[in-house]
Amino acid sequence: MADRLAGKSALVTGAGQGIGRAIALRFAWEGARVVVSDINDDAAHAVAAEIETPSLVNHCDTSKEGDVKGAIDETIAKFGRLDILVNNAGVAGGSDWDRTIGINLNGVYYGLKHGAEAMAASGGGSIVSLSSMLGLISVPFPGVEAYTASKHGVVGLTKHYATNYGRRGVRVNCINPGWIQTAMTKPLVDFNLTDYMNDNSALGRMGTPEEVAAVALFLASDESSFVTGASYVVDGGWTAR
Ligand SMILES: NC(=O)c1ccc[n+]([C@@H]2O[C@H](COP(=O)([O-])OP(=O)(O)OC[C@H]3O[C@@H](n4cnc5c(N)ncnc54)[C@H](O)[C@@H]3O)[C@@H](O)[C@H]2O)c1
Repeated sequence: MADRLAGKSALVTGAGQGIGRAIALRFAWEGARVVVSDINDDAAHAVAAEIETPSLVNHCDTSKEGDVKGAIDETIAKFGRLDILVNNAGVAGGSDWDRTIGINLNGVYYGLKHGAEAMAASGGGSIVSLSSMLGLISVPFPGVEAYTASKHGVVGLTKHYATNYGRRGVRVNCINPGWIQTAMTKPLVDFNLTDYMNDNSALGRMGTPEEVAAVALFLASDESSFVTGASYVVDGGWTAR
């Protein structure tokens, strides 16, 4: 165990698998008390079972404002305060505009709205949201317009909340991952797009959830104390090309 988040309490949405799971596990390893929140209860319980620090499972559909506020309230009720919030839950969404925007953009908005206020009321904290490299650029695939719009929106929300809550001690940043090996990108791998994804990456490969979690840890911890309103690209150099 390490101690970069010792004494802090963290809420991670969509923590049942993939990037959210890796973040929850890394935060716990670094000493945080972690709320493992997901719409999939079985997956959340499985992740919590891997955690040795005090943890809590929370059921939350981030497209519902009451669920997101409830998760924040439950974190504070259980651990006394909310130091770190990771708005991670997201879907590829395909052509379902309303569902994609509902989870990927509205869900992050609800987290920022209620999370920033709760942190400000208790002296501050750090919020990290999962955008995407598709929050900065587009790719020549059909069916990703809602995803691209939602992730660009997360970058804008990050700047808005960073600007409005900085004086109250709340830092707000987002991460823009490239292609990461999770269930979300498995259909692309199955569709033989691995060469395309690797060829356009400067590092020549996909990333791992743990490589995203390492950046989330930096942004969540006090080591990033002068970082706010930022978009951290974790894409193996895709957007640099
Ligand atoms: N995998 C990638 O290549 C990649 C790239 C860029 C950005 N991202 C973003 O990172 C985040 C995590 O992606 P991932 O690849 O780990 O996805 P994933 O599909 O592996 O996991 C997503 C998790 O979110 C949960 N979830 C889905 N809808 C939810 C809802 N309405 N409320 C609460 N939880 C919900 C799922 O149950 C699951 O546990 C997403 O916001 C995604 O858009 C992923």
